[in-house]
Amino acid sequence: MHTKIKISEDYIKQSSIVVVALLPKDIPAKYLSKAERDYIQSAFNDNDKRSFHFNKLTHQVFVELPKEKENPLHFHEALRVKAAGLAKQATDLGIESLYIAAPKLRKDALLAMAEGFALGTYSFNDLKTDKKPLVLQEVCLLSKKTETKDIEELNTLVEATLLARHWVNLPPNHLNAENFATYMQEAATSVGIKTEILNKKQIEALKMGGLLAVNQGSPTPPTFTVMTYKPKHHINTQPIVLVGKGVVYDTGGLNIKPGSYMNDMKSDMGGGAAVAAAIFAAAKAQLPLHIISIVPATDNRPGQNAYASGDVIRMYDGQTVEVINTDAEGRMLLADALAYAKKYKPQLVIDAATLTGAAMRAIGKWGIAAMQVKAEQALATLEAAGEQCSERLVCFPMWEEYGEEIKSKVADMKHLGGAEAGHITAAKFLEKFTDYPYIHLDIAGPAFSTSAFNYRGIGGTGVGVRLLFHFFKLWASSKQTVQ
Ligand code: BES
Ligand code: ZN
Ligand code: ZN
Repeated sequence: MHTKIKISEDYIKQSSIVVVALLPKDIPAKYLSKAERDYIQSAFNDNDKRSFHFNKLTHQVFVELPKEKENPLHFHEALRVKAAGLAKQATDLGIESLYIAAPKLRKDALLAMAEGFALGTYSFNDLKTDKKPLVLQEVCLLSKKTETKDIEELNTLVEATLLARHWVNLPPNHLNAENFATYMQEAATSVGIKTEILNKKQIEALKMGGLLAVNQGSPTPPTFTVMTYKPKHHINTQPIVLVGKGVVYDTGGLNIKPGSYMNDMKSDMGGGAAVAAAIFAAAKAQLPLHIISIVPATDNRPGQNAYASGDVIRMYDGQTVEVINTDAEGRMLLADALAYAKKYKPQLVIDAATLTGAAMRAIGKWGIAAMQVKAEQALATLEAAGEQCSERLVCFPMWEEYGEEIKSKVADMKHLGGAEAGHITAAKFLEKFTDYPYIHLDIAGPAFSTSAFNYRGIGGTGVGVRLLFHFFKLWASSKQTVQ
């Protein structure tokens, strides 16, 4: 359950409302008295005050006078952040339904504000005995410019983002590879996506050496989930394939993570959650694209039989890999899934993974580290999508020289490079399992918030879901071919 976004024709008197205007003179007279509006005008003139709250006893009136920015996309992001703050205020005041009046705001800006409200009220308290129910049930947009279709799509995108957050927030004793697969299947099936979950026997039969190696230390079996959305009308002749890292818990394995480094490692399936939720959103919104999402899943633990550094693993595609550090496990299962994706002759493959500490150190929670092979134009479109929803990309090079780092003396390659540019050498490793236009997204930085972070909340952020959905829409509307 989440805060639903609705459109409303009329304002019902004495209902709580947020009035958004660019200047005090644009505030409609009907929501506030003359004295209140005069007060706003002078506080705005004298102190540049832009946020107001009037307790009218029967209801609450909030007034926001956001400063426009040169780039409208930056303005939209400021509105989302502002809305998340208001959502918290409204929740604290026990408001269940809130109108938004923004007569002078453009449609996209109003929708961004609504999005910030709906994403901002999420909190994970399923495992608390005293579950706090959702307070703010709905935000009603007083807008003639907004169409039902826009609202439906936005509610779908919010639902999908929160679904991904929910999965990320489930701790390892509530989410192993098997029930993660089942949850993804349930969501996918509910919107008509065909889902296949390969079990350990099938994974063994396919000789997915990378996924099986990581799973060796685990008491629970791995899964390999394939979700296929193929609407009757799809404009891409070859599918877009998404691959997501599904490490439900990363202890590091025998190279066990020291100290607090293990604390948030339930989030190590954030990429898997993102690609499963993104295909869910695409299907629910009936986008005209053929999409396949693949999630290899396991935990990474130092069990008796755990894989060890020095091991040489034969991967799904037959190449051999020397294991250097068992904590670099994500690339082992992603490599198998990327090689598996070849069978679909994909137009484009995008993977999302909480892959490296290097990506996190490079750009923090503010961006996604992106790299591409033969997919320059697709990456430009993805970057544009990232700007639209503020899940921004930082593009890194894939120069040949980085590949030198993963040469091995005993196997076809090793799975880990040196201390520098770890996110790039990881991508160079993954590249070896691809033969198609390929984009790699390292979401280690933004996938999880350890403290409150505006509309992204605490815990899983669902990053990647909105990015991929906006990408699908741009891709579908431009009918692009790769390159
Ligand atoms: N899951 C981690 C990467 C990670 C780190 C994600 C922090 C989110 C936040 C990955 O499997 C990992 O452990 N990477 C290590 C590998 C290294 C020790 C060889 C890294 O990049 O530090
Ligand atoms: Zn690891
Ligand atoms: Zn990991």
